[in-house]
Amino acid sequence: MNLPKKVEIIEVGPRDGLQNEANFIPTEKKIELIHTLSQTGIKRIEATSFVHPVHVPQMKDAKEVLEGVQRKEDIQYIALIPNEKGYERARQSHIDAVALVVGASDSFNQKNVRMSRRESMDRLNQVIEQAKGEGVFVRYDIATSFWCPYEGEVDPSVVLEMVNQVEALQVNEIVICDTIGRANPKQVYDLFSKVMDQSPRAQITAHFHDTYGLAQANVIAALQAGVTAFDSSIGGLGGCPFAPGAAGNGSTEDLVMMLHEMGIETGINLEKLMECVELIRPLTERPLTGHLHKVKK
Ligand code: COA
Ligand code: ZN
Repeated sequence: MNLPKKVEIIEVGPRDGLQNEANFIPTEKKIELIHTLSQTGIKRIEATSFVHPVHVPQMKDAKEVLEGVQRKEDIQYIALIPNEKGYERARQSHIDAVALVVGASDSFNQKNVRMSRRESMDRLNQVIEQAKGEGVFVRYDIATSFWCPYEGEVDPSVVLEMVNQVEALQVNEIVICDTIGRANPKQVYDLFSKVMDQSPRAQITAHFHDTYGLAQANVIAALQAGVTAFDSSIGGLGGCPFAPGAAGNGSTEDLVMMLHEMGIETGINLEKLMECVELIRPLTERPLTGHLHKVKK
């Protein structure tokens, strides 16, 4: 099997994981979660998003969360932003990195950020220039890269073209997202192989949801295609309010366990990670979808 020695894991639980929770999670609990995650060996944490508080009320405390977190020098704190206003708010909170988001599917993008795909991309070009000038790390999330909840299967050539255009803007990282968790390992292998062939110098990250229980299988497929960076969410929490039916991300603890068992380093302490699972368990009304916390020792 063609496997790397080391894989990077980006924890997106505090943002992707929590954004879909119906009940507001107290700000201090979010801060505690981010703090505990920062003690696990994880080096990059998507902490919050600067979006409209009416559209995603769970993220309305983005500023307070970032003010409350005792930042560690060796951790990159990321905030998702949809537009210029989001960037401005993130900048005021002295963010290290922004995750810009554009859907490969136009219908999803309209529902998510109320802009066409073209308008989002054009407007974010200016944000990228500004962020680069200000030393802010830019990750570019291509949402619905495989399937769209409104349009069905997404044409891979659309994603390849987007990767091409985004790479030319010299962003730091491009994230190919299976937003609704509908992709299968063959689709994943095929698309990532093409992306890696086309853009060998780009930093490519994979982002899987586990709606059909295929998130970890898709990780294996992406590893085979040469991907070595993955987003995941503690406990398997998550989902997008604008992608009906989407379940949470693949769980970080299951991913770390699987990689370690396969002899792949992550730099993450699994025991410490399980403390994070225990922290979020009482915060959500939904059962956690990760497997590891259910295993009896
Ligand atoms: N944060 C807070 N407020 C924002 C904002 C942001 N990033 N962007 C715009 N606004 C405010 C504007 O200031 C304006 O306020 P006003 O009415 O007081 O003047 C109002 O929102 C309308 O601005 P507009 O640019 O027309 O935004 P919109 O109504 O078309 O909404 C988004 C666009 C992107 C802000 C909204 O669709 C959104 O927040 N989507 C959330 C996407 C998301 O989080 N998805 C899950 C993760 S992928
Ligand atoms: Zn997601």
